[in-house]
Amino acid sequence: MKASIRLDLDHHVGEIDRRIFSGFIEHLGRAVYEGIYDPASPLSDANGFRKDVGEALRRLAMPYMRYPGGNFVSNYDWRDGVGPQDERPVRADFAWKSIEPNTFGVDEFVRWCRWMDIEPMMAVNLGTLGARDAAELVEYCNFPGGTYWSDARRRNGSEEPHGINLWCLGNEMDGSWQAGHCTATEYAARAQQAGRLMKGVDSSIELVACGSTGRYMDTYLEWDRVVLETCWEDVDYISAHRYSRNSEDDSAWFLAEGVEIDRVLSDYVGLLAYVRGVKRSDKQIYVSFDEWNVWYKDRMIDGAWSHAPHLLEEIYNLEDALVCAQFLNSFLRHADIVKIACLAQIVNVIAPILTKPDGMLIQSIYYPFLLFSQHARGESLKPIVDGPSYIAGPRGEVPVLDVSACYEPETDSVCVFIINRSLSKDIDLQVSLSGLHARAVLNAIGFTGNDPKAHNAWEDPDVITPRSATAAVDEEARVTAVVPSLSLTVLRVKLELPS
Ligand code: AHR
Repeated sequence: MKASIRLDLDHHVGEIDRRIFSGFIEHLGRAVYEGIYDPASPLSDANGFRKDVGEALRRLAMPYMRYPGGNFVSNYDWRDGVGPQDERPVRADFAWKSIEPNTFGVDEFVRWCRWMDIEPMMAVNLGTLGARDAAELVEYCNFPGGTYWSDARRRNGSEEPHGINLWCLGNEMDGSWQAGHCTATEYAARAQQAGRLMKGVDSSIELVACGSTGRYMDTYLEWDRVVLETCWEDVDYISAHRYSRNSEDDSAWFLAEGVEIDRVLSDYVGLLAYVRGVKRSDKQIYVSFDEWNVWYKDRMIDGAWSHAPHLLEEIYNLEDALVCAQFLNSFLRHADIVKIACLAQIVNVIAPILTKPDGMLIQSIYYPFLLFSQHARGESLKPIVDGPSYIAGPRGEVPVLDVSACYEPETDSVCVFIINRSLSKDIDLQVSLSGLHARAVLNAIGFTGNDPKAHNAWEDPDVITPRSATAAVDEEARVTAVVPSLSLTVLRVKLELPS
């Protein structure tokens, strides 16, 4: 099979915001405890931070980390997690039926972020706590000193403010599973009040309002409309969440998941334009896609009232990694509205990294994130793709290739991200550049395999891992490449700019 991609530097979508390569960690299962924080482990440093996990995450270069939940946050009192560790209360966590010792809280999280060179993105509880509690957390974190909560922070060992500039107003408040779940009108009032108090303490912060949990919800978009119409002037982003699942075990269908992700984002393009129009506003609100991943195999959500139970320890395979790559392609194609996105989550719980006491396993979904984080920068371009299609079950006819591209002026290079969804057919690809010549292929890298279910395992950890791809510049200064079935290929190409 053959395909071509045409790129034109004048056809661009918008600047890629690095914050789309952020992560999310929740007090859930072994994400915090035994994941990033394990004081008893010989693999941890003096702060109890797992050094091997830190090193693997550092390679992903995540700019922000969302914390502490997730469903957990909606019945969490941040005050339980500050002060002397041995005086902190042990609590029963409503969301995951687990025991929360509170030995890791906001100060430990910020310390971990600083060690990782990551910015914290903090969620507040708008389920069972209120606006004042949220504003007091902003005071605790960001106020320099001389007030009750800022002085408490200083006494707790952080003389300098934490300077947290990105805040989420609750989590998935349209979900019946959420502590303090409510109607859109009620949530909008809560979010507006909390947002005003929080910005009252620190006017420099940015706020993310909860959008609807997903397209499968009855509340989809209508919830978001109500929230945006109420809070348009008070917030900066609306959240979107999506967990993709191959629940029917239909790989051809599942591998067309990018179609659905694009649809969700174009729904938000329409909604944001509508509310902006109704408001006659010059302000623009963007999407914070602050939970995304594949998740359907491990549905264990009941911790049986134990500490750090094994929950949601999903094993990821090749097709899951290719779906994750499609999330990232879609975020790039919508670079004009998606400014933040968080891989949910980062370790042990639906995560690219699994730990055991003496080691760590890198899962397949680590690699699309790594390759995009390393190569997607500059202006997102609109690729024109001419290639075959296939029947993706109930999704109908879908292009075999899923593509995004970007141009980086500093290095005069373009980068193309190509997913071949076919289960069996390789593609001979040609990439041409309108009015420009390719000078050299700087990078050709990707991952592939014959079996969509192939996965890394403790005893065989490198089944899915990046390998060199085949690409060259031809005599007409176009790039040619062979894109294998079931693959992600990343091509970085140096351009010959007109003199
Ligand atoms: O990431 C796991 C859970 O998924 C989060 O706690 C919640 O926000 C979502 O439903």
